[in-house]
Amino acid sequence: MKYFPMFVDLVDRPCVVVGGGNAAAAKARRLIEVGARVTLISESPNEEVGLLANQDALTVRRRAFKEDDIKETTLVIVASGNADVDQEVSRIARAFGIPVNVVDQLNLSNFLVPAMIDRHPLQIGISSGGAAPSLSSRIRHQIEMLLPSRIGTLAEFARDHRIKINQLLPNSSSRRSFWGEFFDSALAQRILAGIDSLNGAEIPDLVKKMTSSKRVLREVAIVGAGPGDPDLLTIRALQKLQAADVIVYDRLVAPAVLDRSRRDAKRIFVGKSSGGHVFAQDEINQILLREARNGQRVVRLKGGDPFIFGRGGEERSFLLSHGVSVIVVPGITAALGCGAATGIPMTHRDVAQAVTFITGHGEGELSLDWASLARTQHSLVIYMGVGSAGVIAARLIEHGMNGGTQVAVIENGTAPNQKFVTGNLRGLAVLIKRYEISAPAIIVIGDVVKQSNLQFGSVGLGLKTETQALLDTAYCPKEAKVSGSRG
Ligand SMILES: C[S@@+](CC[C@H](N)C(=O)[O-])C[C@H]1O[C@@H](n2cnc3c(N)ncnc32)[C@H](O)[C@@H]1O
Repeated sequence: MKYFPMFVDLVDRPCVVVGGGNAAAAKARRLIEVGARVTLISESPNEEVGLLANQDALTVRRRAFKEDDIKETTLVIVASGNADVDQEVSRIARAFGIPVNVVDQLNLSNFLVPAMIDRHPLQIGISSGGAAPSLSSRIRHQIEMLLPSRIGTLAEFARDHRIKINQLLPNSSSRRSFWGEFFDSALAQRILAGIDSLNGAEIPDLVKKMTSSKRVLREVAIVGAGPGDPDLLTIRALQKLQAADVIVYDRLVAPAVLDRSRRDAKRIFVGKSSGGHVFAQDEINQILLREARNGQRVVRLKGGDPFIFGRGGEERSFLLSHGVSVIVVPGITAALGCGAATGIPMTHRDVAQAVTFITGHGEGELSLDWASLARTQHSLVIYMGVGSAGVIAARLIEHGMNGGTQVAVIENGTAPNQKFVTGNLRGLAVLIKRYEISAPAIIVIGDVVKQSNLQFGSVGLGLKTETQALLDTAYCPKEAKVSGSRG
């Protein structure tokens, strides 16, 4: 490591910026933000600089740099855009022993300004030692995504109660274990979410609870994994996945999503095994409870959104009734992921003012309110409906829906092997058979399908489009269209 990292208090300290362009203005703004007294020297400052000066935060000297400008200063930042000026200021600052940074000129600088993440009072600085500033800023974006936006609240909590906690726990190793337990606790999550806080009088109880030898019963996170594309995970889902000790997942969770978890996390598969074993809901509930009671950070990872045809509600009730706290992280449900991936809006002006998600899965005849589902100006999305598509189409037509209504079937939506076909309601079952659609797939019924990528030549997604002319029963739409795998 070549550079010594440190954070410097510049409140009320005189600092000089040489240069009048955007880079100089950005540096001046950062210095002002930390309370420095900033003077900017430039013969021709631009509008950005003017704006800062108007806010009284900055003194601007509209002239060339002079040696005296930096004699009494704490530090100098140079972004003059003129190689001679850059060199001259750097030379003089070094001669006076004043720290100097020349933007993008490592050899003229003796300190570097890191890429910053600011979650007051928490600050994270990232530096590549001047080797690759754009890599530092990329890493900053990645860390930004992983950090809860209110993480500073936890740092404030620690700051406000540190002295009291140090008195209660004089031994440094017990303090370390207290903070470890606390930051992982449901209470810390609630403080982060802004729905809880503690006052000083409650600290002794908290310390007792967090340091008791009894194993901590951890919160379970029921997390939506989205429809398949790992980039559709929410930031909170990613945070939970990366903190998890145990991940309980089923068939619908794409391997690419699981790959975003910690390598050393234990993965428990609760889908249908190769031997044909199907986990009953109660078995899954017991696994979640057992792992939480073992003090593990458990993520129950479910395809799409856990509260849409996902039994997330049942798992939550079970855990709560056994004293385990639960946090639910929503995911992008299949309908919305598939809609975005195929260009089908679920509602569309003048075409559909309502959308209904239904399940086509059920014992025997589906008991649904067919008359209201068949109404116009309405989109229907059917989950788990591949096997019952023929019955669904027949019931909708019997209850008044036009057999020519557009339908789309999307298999493995958002995944690299996405399959997408369109046709009409009368031909729905044949369409599914003809194109060998299998689960997981959703069916979209309604005029919104006319907006799809297939109708517009698959713009933007690289979908393979072919027009299918010969479907040979009365129920087969001549105009059936299909797109194969993405990419
Ligand atoms: C048990 S439900 C779970 C739904 C999930 N909770 C959600 O919000 O998407 C399973 C059904 O969701 C639909 N599904 C899930 N992922 C899908 C995908 N990537 N493409 C198409 N349909 C999908 C299929 O209808 C599948 O049979």
